[in-house]
Amino acid sequence: MPATQNLKEQHVAVLAFPFGSHDLTILSLTCRLACAAPNVQFSFLSTAKSNDSMFSTFKLDVPNNIRAYNMEDGVPMNHVFSGNPVERLDLFLMAAPGNFKNGLDVAVLETGRNVSCLVTDMFLTFAADIANDMQVPWIPLCVSIPHNLSAHIYTDLIRRLFDHVGGDENGANFQHQTLEVIPGLSGMYVTDLSDEILPRHSRETFFSYMLSRIVCVLPRATAIVMNFCQELYPTPLLDDLKSMFPNLLNVGFLTQELPPPPLPPSDSDATGCLSWLDKQSSKSVVYISFGTAANPPVDELIALAEAVEESQIPFLWSLNDNHKHHLPNGFLQRTSKFGKIVSWAPQTHVLGHASTGVFVTHCGANSVFESVANGVPMICRPMFGDHWTIRRLVEEIWEIGVRVERLIFTKSGVLKSLELILGHEQGRKMRERIRALRELVLKAAEPSGSASQDFKTLVETILNS
Ligand SMILES: *[C@@H]1O[C@H](CO)[C@@H](O)[C@H](O)[C@H]1NC(C)=O
Ligand SMILES: *[C@@H]1O[C@H](CO)[C@@H](O)[C@H](O)[C@H]1NC(C)=O
Ligand SMILES: *[C@@H]1O[C@H](CO)[C@@H](O)[C@H](O)[C@H]1NC(C)=O
Repeated sequence: MPATQNLKEQHVAVLAFPFGSHDLTILSLTCRLACAAPNVQFSFLSTAKSNDSMFSTFKLDVPNNIRAYNMEDGVPMNHVFSGNPVERLDLFLMAAPGNFKNGLDVAVLETGRNVSCLVTDMFLTFAADIANDMQVPWIPLCVSIPHNLSAHIYTDLIRRLFDHVGGDENGANFQHQTLEVIPGLSGMYVTDLSDEILPRHSRETFFSYMLSRIVCVLPRATAIVMNFCQELYPTPLLDDLKSMFPNLLNVGFLTQELPPPPLPPSDSDATGCLSWLDKQSSKSVVYISFGTAANPPVDELIALAEAVEESQIPFLWSLNDNHKHHLPNGFLQRTSKFGKIVSWAPQTHVLGHASTGVFVTHCGANSVFESVANGVPMICRPMFGDHWTIRRLVEEIWEIGVRVERLIFTKSGVLKSLELILGHEQGRKMRERIRALRELVLKAAEPSGSASQDFKTLVETILNS
C-alpha cells in the first residue's frame, strides 16, 4: 500500500439498524475493519439503547479508532405502542434519514474529518442517497442469508407470479409452490417468504416499503458485504448475485470469531454457564435460546418446559427475566438438579463447549451461523421474518437440524425432536454433515481462504475511498 494512503484522514461512518442482532453484526464488522485499518477513524451511529446493550452486555473489545454516537430512536414523546412489533421499526425508519444526518454532522465536527465512506445495514436503503449527497462510496451489509437478498431483489417477480394465487389465511394455496423461478432458490417455498414480500396477513408497513427499495438502490453500492461464506451458496444463487453485483463480498460469519478461539477460563464467565457445562458429559446438553427479539407464545413456552422436565435431559436455557414467571409452577426447583436458567448466555462460548449437544433455536441468521461454526445440530421453531427460509435451509437443504412438529412447541413434539437428534442415527448423520459445513467455513476463514480475501478487498475499498 502506498504510504500516501495512510496520510489521508479517512473517516468511515457506520449506520446501524438497531433491531434483533443487526446492530451487533455491523458492530462486529466495524471492529474488524478498525483493527485492519488502524489509521482510519470509525464513527458508529446507533440508538442509545442499542449502544448500551451492546457495549455492556457483550463487553466487546472495541478498538480505540471507533467512536459510538447515540441517535434518537424516532419514538415521539409519550407515544403509546399498539403492540404491533413492526411499529418500533417503522417509527425508527421514518425519522432515520434526518436523525442519521444530524449524527453524521456531529461525528464530522468531533473528529474534524469529512466522511470518506458510508457503511450501513442494507435495510437502511435511504443511505444510498446520503452517500450520493456526500459523494462517498456506500457499502451496505446484508445480515441474513443470501437467499433472503435474492427474495428482495426478485420481489416484483414473486408478487406477479404468486399474489393473484390469493391463498387463504394460512397461505394454503401456496403450500406446494417452490421459488424455482429464482436462481438457486428451488429448495425454498413461497410459504417461507416473510410478510414483507407477500403481505398476506398485514398491510404494507414503512419497513416493507424500505425493503422494497433494496432492488433499486443496491446497484449504487460500491460493494455489498455478506455475513456469509461463498462456499455455502448453491452455485446458481452465487452466480446470479455475482452477475448483478460483482463486488459481492462474502466475509464470513461476523458474530463468530473464526476459527472459534479457545473458550475463556470457566471461572471468568460471570453467568456461570461454562462452569455448569463443565460438569455435564460430552454432547449431552440441550441449549435453548431465542435471541434478543423472538419469544414463543406462553403456551408453547410451557410445553417446552414440560418436555425438558419429562426428558430429564440436562438443559441450559437463556430466558429473559420477564418471561420466567410463565414457567410451570415449581419448575425451577424440580429441574434444578439437571437444568440451568440464565437471563443471558454467552452464546458462542456455550455452542463451542463440548457438552452442548443440540440447540433449540428460532433460526435467526446469527444463531444458525454460530451453531454451524461450532458443529451443533438444531431444533427449529421459526417465529418471524427470515426465520422460515433459514429453517428450510437448516432442515431440508443442509440437513443439520429438524423443525418441531407442526412448527410449534408441543410436549410430545419436543420430546420427539430431542430423541431424534440426541438418541438416533439421524442425529449422528446431522452431526457429521454440520461438521463438514464447519470445515468449509473454517477453510474460508484461513488467510488464503475466500472470506479472508473478500475481507481484504473490503479493507482496500475503504482505504481507497
Ligand atoms: C455508548 O456506550 C458506551 C458504553 O456504554 C459509552 O461509553 C458511550 O459513551 C456511549 N456513547 C454515547 C455517545 O453515549
Ligand atoms: C470537508 O468538506 C468541505 C466541503 O466539501 C470542505 O470545505 C472542507 O474543507 C472539508 N474539510 C476537511 C477537514 O477536509
Ligand atoms: C430478510 O431478513 C430480514 C431479517 O434480517 C427480514 O425482516 C426479512 O423479512 C427477510 N426477507 C425475506 C424475504 O425473508
